[in-house]
Amino acid sequence: MSRSKLRIDSLVIHGGQAPDPSTGAVMPPISLASTYAQESPGQHKGFEYTRSHNPTRYALERSIAAIEGSSLSQRQDVTSGGFAFSSGLAAMATCLELLDTGDHVVAMDDLYGGSYRLMSRVRERSMGLNVTYVDMTDAKRVEQAITPRTKMIWIETPTNPTLKLIDLKAITAIAQSRAAKGQKIITVCDNTFATPILQRPLEYGFDIVHHSATKYLGGHSDALGGLLVTNRAEIAEKLRFMQNAIGSVLSPFDSYLVLRGIKTLALRMQRHCQSAARIAEWLVKHPKVQRVVYPGLPSHPQHSLAGQQMRIGDEPAYGGMITMFLKGGLGESRQFLENVQVFALAESLGGVESLIEHPAIMTHASVPPENRAKLGISDTLVRISVGIEDVRDLIADLDQALESVSISPVPKTRETAARGSP
Ligand SMILES: Cc1ncc(COP(=O)(O)O)c(C=O)c1O
Repeated sequence: MSRSKLRIDSLVIHGGQAPDPSTGAVMPPISLASTYAQESPGQHKGFEYTRSHNPTRYALERSIAAIEGSSLSQRQDVTSGGFAFSSGLAAMATCLELLDTGDHVVAMDDLYGGSYRLMSRVRERSMGLNVTYVDMTDAKRVEQAITPRTKMIWIETPTNPTLKLIDLKAITAIAQSRAAKGQKIITVCDNTFATPILQRPLEYGFDIVHHSATKYLGGHSDALGGLLVTNRAEIAEKLRFMQNAIGSVLSPFDSYLVLRGIKTLALRMQRHCQSAARIAEWLVKHPKVQRVVYPGLPSHPQHSLAGQQMRIGDEPAYGGMITMFLKGGLGESRQFLENVQVFALAESLGGVESLIEHPAIMTHASVPPENRAKLGISDTLVRISVGIEDVRDLIADLDQALESVSISPVPKTRETAARGSP
């Protein structure tokens, strides 16, 4: 069977990969050399300097291109459609370089705090980008925000941390109708939360998929990385140029770690989704929990959209992230978070181990308080990244931590979050 026809569970293992031609090694060697010997000036085997070309990074880039379904993934040359960077934000920063000074971007209003910070506090100043942040749960608002200078639509679905969904088909329909009138708008989807196991935005017509590979793709909380994937040859060429020109490439060692993580991505995502669904259902019934947001719950306002665009095979699959609101205030949230034992109170997500955090103080502190209030990122919002431990141990841990919380009729602390974030 041709490798290009493989199903997703096989693609994560074989997509874009072949045994090393010189030794037959089934995993690519970690190729650490920073430079490569040339036979004569300009005559070499395709590798000159590791920022420009690295075999281990190429192996990862071909893998993600195949898994996200890039039509360029069969190419063996430098435009395989996948690009690896030193972090998710480095990937985003390079992607924004596709734009020119004064261009306009329509972005989701509920982005990862660091993505919002990069646009609003760096690129708006340094590139003169104009960014309009809109709640894209209603695609009409995207249409209304587009101006003649709009060159990019940047989305994240499900969003971090409020788990809102954006209708992928509706966004590409808007970009296609503008393209028919001569306005080219690059559509980018941050697919970090869903991963290509659940949703493949290129299949919906998106131009670029973005990932923080630090999360589910790496999967073991031991590597930082970012990825971009495209279907479009002209974008691939520009990204390859910029990746080398800007230089925030992924190291060979981290490329190897992410590639190794991807091999078990399909299996891990199944477990993340199953356990998260069970925990969300359990939390809904807990008397100390005000509200649970999980795309798999019928109470989620976009439950039916989630069932259509987030799937493993023929079955809906809603991801491994849960957002919950505790009863009480910041004091109660602190008590709860200080008492978890199996969950680690830590930033990040998508690892094999379960993590829990407080976005207003931790991951989203870089979002101004007034925006956080508008988005509902309150002091009682707790974000959970469900790992692959036995789900009964996870529920028991949450249970004992909730047990330790005494809900006071008067909020325990009026403190609100105000500090930097990663
Ligand atoms: C959805 C999303 N996108 C992008 C990023 C940034 O990735 P990195 O931390 O690898 O730079 C994160 C990090 O948490 C994220 O959650």
